[in-house]
Amino acid sequence: MSTTIQAVRGMNDVLPEEARVWLDFEARVQAWLERYGYHNIRMPLVEPTQLFRRAIGEATDIVEKEMYSWRDELNGEDLTLRPEGTASCVRAAIEHNLLYEGPKRLWYAGPMYRHERPQKGRYRQFYQYGAEALGYPGPDVDAELIVMCARLWRELGLEGIRLELNTIGSPDERARYRTDLVRHLETNVDRLDADAKRRMYSNPLRVLDSKNALVQQALSGAPTLTDYLGEASLAHFADLRRLLASAGVEYVINPRLVRGLDYYNLTVFEWVSDALGAQGTVCGGGRYDGLFAQIGGKPTPAAGFAMGVERLIALLQQVRGAPRPGPHAYVVFQGSGTLEYAFTLADELRAAGFAVVQHAGGGSFKSQMKKADASGAKLALIVGEDELAAGEVTAKPLRTAQPQQRVPRGVLARRLSEFLQDG
Ligand code: HAM
Repeated sequence: MSTTIQAVRGMNDVLPEEARVWLDFEARVQAWLERYGYHNIRMPLVEPTQLFRRAIGEATDIVEKEMYSWRDELNGEDLTLRPEGTASCVRAAIEHNLLYEGPKRLWYAGPMYRHERPQKGRYRQFYQYGAEALGYPGPDVDAELIVMCARLWRELGLEGIRLELNTIGSPDERARYRTDLVRHLETNVDRLDADAKRRMYSNPLRVLDSKNALVQQALSGAPTLTDYLGEASLAHFADLRRLLASAGVEYVINPRLVRGLDYYNLTVFEWVSDALGAQGTVCGGGRYDGLFAQIGGKPTPAAGFAMGVERLIALLQQVRGAPRPGPHAYVVFQGSGTLEYAFTLADELRAAGFAVVQHAGGGSFKSQMKKADASGAKLALIVGEDELAAGEVTAKPLRTAQPQQRVPRGVLARRLSEFLQDG
């Protein structure tokens, strides 16, 4: 016997019951994005590897060790399964000159791929919804991106998602800070772990968000980035904070928040929940004014965020519990000629807009009724030889104590909507 084949580690099936929660989530998120004037864009899952090297940065975890990359031997191209959407979205905007009429707000959704060590909330294939505001210098748009997230959490009924906010200034300000930070790390090198030592020169700012307590001790007394910011950067941050205050959005300033992608400047933020264990960040983003030029476009200010769908779905399920999905009606039938009658009747109801499942696979009347109940349907529609002869159907409510009744086929759709409204 051959061995069974399983899904790739870190890449998950979303089974029907959970997929319902996804569909509901996606419908709400898409409507919410459109309400804020964001328009959908769809980019390929595969991009030239160079795009991510240049956009995300050579010295990041993603580019160093998490990308699914390969060479297409047929034409010698180096390709990568996208680890995130911002680089692709900006590439597409440049390639199609999308900003020729002015700034644009865009959203995208879909799977992203990172070869991380899988654990709860961290997968190798995961889904993101991302929003990118291209061509806006902010800080009004930075505030809008944050305020709109706060609204979404509220509308989804998710509580306790806190906002962590920071500003990382301009590249020049960061370069000056970096020099002094490296000097501080060098004098405390004994207390750094292997990871921090490795990053000390390649990406010293990432040492700031090390989880190692000893490394955090080594950082006490380290210079703070805020002290290196000039007037313009400070004003941008102050204006953003004022807008957030006027919108009533609370936040904590986390001076160690630097994010894992190199394209950011000024505003960076993350939304974090404590209800998810170690992988609590449900959404992250910020401003990336340098990215267009970095990948060959005209300098263009921009900002955005992306949220992790699996993590938000996990939160939703904690709040709401498992939903009880089901169609409006389940059609059961028994007796000669009833299959054809039931078949056309079910299709008439679907044409009228109802969700109707027709029993398939035979079985006794009793077993069919069990299936109707298990389907979660509100009503069983029963077709026997009597109903067939009379041109009627028996409608039996499955979730309420109302009595069953015979309904002429011609008025079934109307009666069904009355029943569903009452129930
Ligand atoms: P990111 O922080 O790398 O940012 O990812 C955004 C979100 O995707 C995270 O907050 C998390 O919820 C989810 N996520 C990331 N990695 C995984 C994983 N391995 N498993 C499950 N969920 C994950 C970006 O990707 C930027 N492109 C965001 C952005 C858009 N910045 C500006 N515009």
